[in-house]
Amino acid sequence: MRKAAASGADAGRAMKMSSTMSRGYPPQYETRMALKNGKTVLVRPVLQTDEPLIVDLLNKLSSDSIYLRFLRPVKTLPKELLFHLTHLDYQNNFALAAVIREDEKDAVIAVARYGYDPQEHLTDFAIVVRDDWQHYGLGKQMLSRIFAIGRQQGIFRFVSIVDSTNIPMKRTLRGLDYTVNYSYEKGFTQVEVLV
Ligand SMILES: CC(C)(COP(=O)(O)OP(=O)(O)OC[C@H]1O[C@@H](n2cnc3c(N)ncnc32)[C@H](O)[C@@H]1OP(=O)(O)O)[C@@H](O)C(=O)NCCC(=O)NCCS
Repeated sequence: MRKAAASGADAGRAMKMSSTMSRGYPPQYETRMALKNGKTVLVRPVLQTDEPLIVDLLNKLSSDSIYLRFLRPVKTLPKELLFHLTHLDYQNNFALAAVIREDEKDAVIAVARYGYDPQEHLTDFAIVVRDDWQHYGLGKQMLSRIFAIGRQQGIFRFVSIVDSTNIPMKRTLRGLDYTVNYSYEKGFTQVEVLV
């Protein structure tokens, strides 16, 4: 049985540590989110030191969730991708992690991110919630938050390619107060979110 979400003291300690650990780290984006399972989780910007926690998250995801997140099977995250996911400028590239205490250590149970793609000249976004934490409202809250943060940074358009069968993602986006446009090609859906 998994341990409960971070206590207030744990969260405070995490916040104190985190604000000293990554260059440019914006502590003002640390928050707590209340979930439908009655638990509260710490949601904070991703740190460079989160690499092992993100590897652990990947190891605990079902193959379905991995496919829906990366659109291909991924057994191990390539080093460059892991670096890219954790080394952020907190402006054009931003990621939030939901963190709990589990087995007496921190565990990341969800990541929502956006990043500027210089080849496509657009800002893409992605999210994944660990399977045992899905359906509790975390995905919706984290997406809402990451778009709001992007908007504060002057980004008003976000794009993602999702599998056309990804109903949970479509429902999650439908619940947000933003304009969402879909276009379809070869089994995949391009999602455009205007904030
Ligand atoms: C998509 C995802 C992030 C949603 O996260 P979540 O925390 O479960 O979402 P929420 O609990 O906030 O639910 C949001 C909405 O989706 C619906 N939903 C969630 N899972 C669902 C499922 N398996 N089937 C149908 N609807 C689902 C919820 O009912 C809710 O809709 P409502 O507000 O109308 O009730 C999660 O399913 C996930 O990580 N999937 C794998 C990765 C992925 O698909 N990423 C997207 C592409 S980058």
